[in-house]
Amino acid sequence: MYNNNLSFLNLDFLKIKILLKRNIYHFLNKSKFLFNNYFGKYKYTYGCDWFYKSEINQKAKFLLGHKNKKNFDILEIGSFEGLSTTYFIDNFLSKSDGQITIVDPFLLYPEKLIPGTLLNQVQIRNFFFNISKSSYPEKVQYLGLTSDEFFEVNNKKYNFIYIDGMHTKKQMTKDLISSWDSLLIDGVVWMDDYLVDHGRLKKTLDKTIESLKGKHKVIHRGYQIAIKKLA
Ligand SMILES: C[S@@+](CC[C@H](N)C(=O)[O-])C[C@H]1O[C@@H](n2cnc3c(N)ncnc32)[C@H](O)[C@@H]1O
Repeated sequence: MYNNNLSFLNLDFLKIKILLKRNIYHFLNKSKFLFNNYFGKYKYTYGCDWFYKSEINQKAKFLLGHKNKKNFDILEIGSFEGLSTTYFIDNFLSKSDGQITIVDPFLLYPEKLIPGTLLNQVQIRNFFFNISKSSYPEKVQYLGLTSDEFFEVNNKKYNFIYIDGMHTKKQMTKDLISSWDSLLIDGVVWMDDYLVDHGRLKKTLDKTIESLKGKHKVIHRGYQIAIKKLA
């Protein structure tokens, strides 16, 4: 016991800081989970909100106008706790025979990845919990793959693709090009973080958009970008 205390004192300041941060983060997430679960403003449970204040949440219904389409297939790259996924299910799949395919290996950004931690387990549990509470859980196909792994084998085409996976310049460019090839005519690719880091990615993404095959129209340009395939 005495020795344990001594070794604890020997830990340097940085290690203590990391330990504290991790535990506080975990505690806050768990509390948020419980709070949202029982008293939440929203039907869904989450520890981290990337969705409710996003442009896609505010504008997609108006811009897509696909609410009552019969066949509407959605692909989502990067679902996290499923907030965007449940929004798509509830708002775009009610009259559709189509489904939503989710591609997410459930990794955080690699440098932040702490394998096997409870934090990850809570987030994954939130995802499955939220999907089960959505209007049509049976219309969900979850694939635990990276987008690269998925596009390597995919031959299906989609009406709508939301790209919100790995946010590096290289991966976003790759995801945009592959998504475009998997998009039907009249379909829309919507991408998060177009203006991330004061426009660090914008120039590269603009060049990629200009080089996309066929005719296209940018139907939304803000922090996020949405591009429609015309021909
Ligand atoms: C910003 S979160 C998605 C947020 C979610 N769309 C929302 O609005 O609530 C990014 C997600 O992308 C996933 N991800 C990271 N790298 C990926 C990759 N290469 N392919 C697919 N998904 C990836 C992560 O596991 C994480 O769940």
